[in-house]
Amino acid sequence: MLIRNAPDLTDNDVTDHGLYLRRRQVIGGAAGLGLAGLAGSASARLTYSRGLSTSEKATPKKDVTSYNNFYEFGANKDDPARNAGALKARPWTVRVDGACEAPATFGIDDLIKGKKLEERIYRMRCVEGWSMVIPWVGFPLKDLIAAVKPTSKARFVAFQTLMRPSEMPGQRRNILQWPYREGLRIDEATHPLTLMAVGLYGDALPNQNGAPLRLVTPWKYGFKGIKSIVRISLVEKMPATAWNLSAPREYGFYSNVNPAVDHPRWSQATERRIGEFRRRETLPFNGYGQHVADLYRGMDLRKNF
Ligand code: MTE
Repeated sequence: MLIRNAPDLTDNDVTDHGLYLRRRQVIGGAAGLGLAGLAGSASARLTYSRGLSTSEKATPKKDVTSYNNFYEFGANKDDPARNAGALKARPWTVRVDGACEAPATFGIDDLIKGKKLEERIYRMRCVEGWSMVIPWVGFPLKDLIAAVKPTSKARFVAFQTLMRPSEMPGQRRNILQWPYREGLRIDEATHPLTLMAVGLYGDALPNQNGAPLRLVTPWKYGFKGIKSIVRISLVEKMPATAWNLSAPREYGFYSNVNPAVDHPRWSQATERRIGEFRRRETLPFNGYGQHVADLYRGMDLRKNF
């Protein structure tokens, strides 16, 4: 029976949004367990049910936690794992404000408590041409947005990373305009695939992966997945984003994975899955097109890259 098979759902099993949503409600009601004892410990096990996931083999945890981009801790792939230990991920608050009736500041543990956490095994395609398969644990961003009661002026969502140069050595240099910023259109932000991740491989997020809270949008290039978020604002105008500010010709607002639109300095047609030797073809929307292509109907994706 479909619903009992839910833990092994692949992308191909999901034929339309409505079906997916109904399944999720059933799965959540039957098996959602929330969080056990995250507070105070970065290594606490999380309790979760399985949400929409790829059946592809996950990238080894060692690679997911040692090959990172987190420029606040340095520009080399091994810098974040080496330097991010300095980040104090507790206490931590997230301000959710802007065009909404009920703006609020959430303590991270209160925010997570009572949420039905799900494991979502997603592909992640970095704009640099490599990819991983990562078992995240988190909750849909749409639940958090609904909690603050958005008004009709909430057309976009703006995200900000912590600004704390004393713990983030990269912020003492002008690699990017700090704090790191990202943004989504409201329909992207409230799409069921869009996840606020608080863990990976069943444990709380390691600092180098964006503790205690980061965004995951699996159909977009990895840099949209802003880490260590302190503020989420509902806004009327398209917000500025860190990489677009830094190189507007190279990094657009949408940044949907698109093998047909090359980066000005390299092809996006193929990717190297970390741990594999041969390059594989990159899929439009990173293989999530059947879920998200409708969001961009009628848009020129060459112009809106
Ligand atoms: N978020 C912040 N705050 N700073 C960053 O430098 N790098 C981005 C994104 N989020 C980045 C960030 C990039 S380029 C990628 S590919 C992903 O994080 C990498 O996530 P991972 O290290 O967990 O694989």
